[in-house]
This record gives sequence, C-alpha cells and structure tokens, in this order.
Amino acid sequence: MKVTVVGAGNVGATCANVIAHNEVANEVILLDIKEGVAEGKSLDMWQTAPINLYDTRIKGSTNDYAATKDSEVVVITSGLPRKPGMSRDDLIATNAGIVRSVTENIVKYSPNAIIIVVSNPLDVMTYCAYLTSGFDAKKVFGMAGILDTARYRAFLADALNCSPKDIQAVLMGGHGDTMVPLPRYTTVSGIPVTELIAKDKLDAIIQRTKVGGGELVNLMGTSAWYAPGAAAAQMVEAIVRDQKRIFPCCAWLQGEYGLKDIYLGVPVKLGKNGIEQIIELKLNAEEKELLDSSAKAVKEVMSVLDNMQQPVK
Ligand code: LAC
Repeated sequence: MKVTVVGAGNVGATCANVIAHNEVANEVILLDIKEGVAEGKSLDMWQTAPINLYDTRIKGSTNDYAATKDSEVVVITSGLPRKPGMSRDDLIATNAGIVRSVTENIVKYSPNAIIIVVSNPLDVMTYCAYLTSGFDAKKVFGMAGILDTARYRAFLADALNCSPKDIQAVLMGGHGDTMVPLPRYTTVSGIPVTELIAKDKLDAIIQRTKVGGGELVNLMGTSAWYAPGAAAAQMVEAIVRDQKRIFPCCAWLQGEYGLKDIYLGVPVKLGKNGIEQIIELKLNAEEKELLDSSAKAVKEVMSVLDNMQQPVK
C-alpha cells in the first residue's frame, strides 16, 4: 500500500509523519518542489522509526513524480499558506496553478488514486483537482471538516473539563468563516451538549471555531499544521483500512441538501472506494439557512476559479 503526500511543508510533513507513525501504509512518498526538502524531512522521519517502532518506509522526492507511481491515495498539501490579514480565498490565484499542475502529474502516474486535497481555499482547490483529474467525484474530496470539528471538540473539552475523546460533533459547510457547527448534533458520550453548557458559552465556542484557523495564523504568522496534518492522515487511514468511518469532508454535491455542482463540507462515509455515501441530515430551517449562505460563499469563489479556467484570448 503506497501513499503519496505532495508538499513537504509543515502540513504535508506532519501528515506523512502521522501516517508512518501509525503504520497506515507500508510506503509513504513525500514530494516537494524545493530541492532536497522532502528527502531531508523523510530521512529525519525515517530515523524516528527505530525510536517510535514502526516500519513504514518514508521516501522523499524533489518533484520526481515517477516516484509516486501507483499510489493508492494521494494527499495534496501544496500551495502557499495564509499570512496574518489574509483570507483563505486570497490564495486562489497562486494555489490554483499549483494544485492544477500537481494533479496533472498525479493522474499521469497514479490513474486509480484517491485524491485528498488540503490546499486552500479548500473547497475550491478540491473543485480544481476534480476538474483537472477527470476522476469520479467519489475519489476526489477535501479535508476540512475533521479539522474544524476537532477544533470545536477541543474547545468544548476545555470548557467542560472533560476528555476530547468523549466529544462527538458534526460541522458542515465551507472551510471558512461561514462554516456551520451543529450544536443539535453535538454530544458528550451521548449526552446532548446543550444539557451541559450554557448557550452563551456554546455560542462563543462556535464563533471561535469558525475563525479557529485565523486564530492560529495570528499567533504564528502562518497557518496551522499539527491538526491539519493529523486530520488528513485520519482520512487516509479510513480509506486504506476500509474503515467506513463517518466524517465531515468536502464532497461534490449533486442535489444533496438541495445543493448541486458544489464542493462543500457534509458528513460522508469513507472507505476503500473513497466517499461511499453522503449522509443527509434533517436540518432545521435555521441550520439550512446557515448552510445555504456558506454554499453561496463557496460558489462565489468557485466562479472565480471557473473564470480563471477560461482560455486566454
Ligand atoms: C487551517 C488551515 C489549514 O484552518 O486552513 O488551519
């Protein structure tokens, strides 16, 4: 089982490290455009194998896609990260070109791969990889919901002084400030969260979750990597081990939730075939309205990409 991670920056390297550490695949290829970086980080990680006791081989490559040949899953993390003051959408022009060229190379060498996109703006870069690959949409999807839900769950664990293991939650919509955490579908070991926390505190946590990525950009001057990398690795594991796990992921909607021709975060079942089911929750009017406005925001950025794809006259 071979997995490729494209982009050996903080997110890509963390993702490869988690995959190796958890022995999710026997071979991980880490590829980057910068000379020597992927090789160096891979070698460094491989030298943790005798300490952490795993045998997943990690190999680095400077932009040689032949090394990625016949990967079963490919994670695309390439692109610029955000700087303070930037929205994820500000990255579209640069990152669309990068994601397009990476996808072309991946398709050439791994025509049967499942592609997980992590680059920002997430929903639209997933759309970009889908258009470029020509793959079935069940095999091209994005990582955002696991990360955003993890932030929400971590904040709740702090507020409730309980283990994050016991917090289950669903969050939908785009990977941006319009994302839709769903308190009605948030439980702590089966107990509705609304029975454990006051509404004003929960509202503050929801608001903090929506701008959770920005909070980290402001603290660090660049975007986050530990949770994004671990979240992408968790998706890889669900696919490679055919776990049929249910996660919120950025998926291509064709009528689900009354939305069509859009990549948006929804709960899905992940297994060896990629997205094996899109789960349709019965949203109430308020939740549906929030989801629709998130979809509208994503559609606007998708149309920026569509206009960029027009041939230059
Ligand atoms: C974040 C970036 C990875 O939310 O989008 O941290």
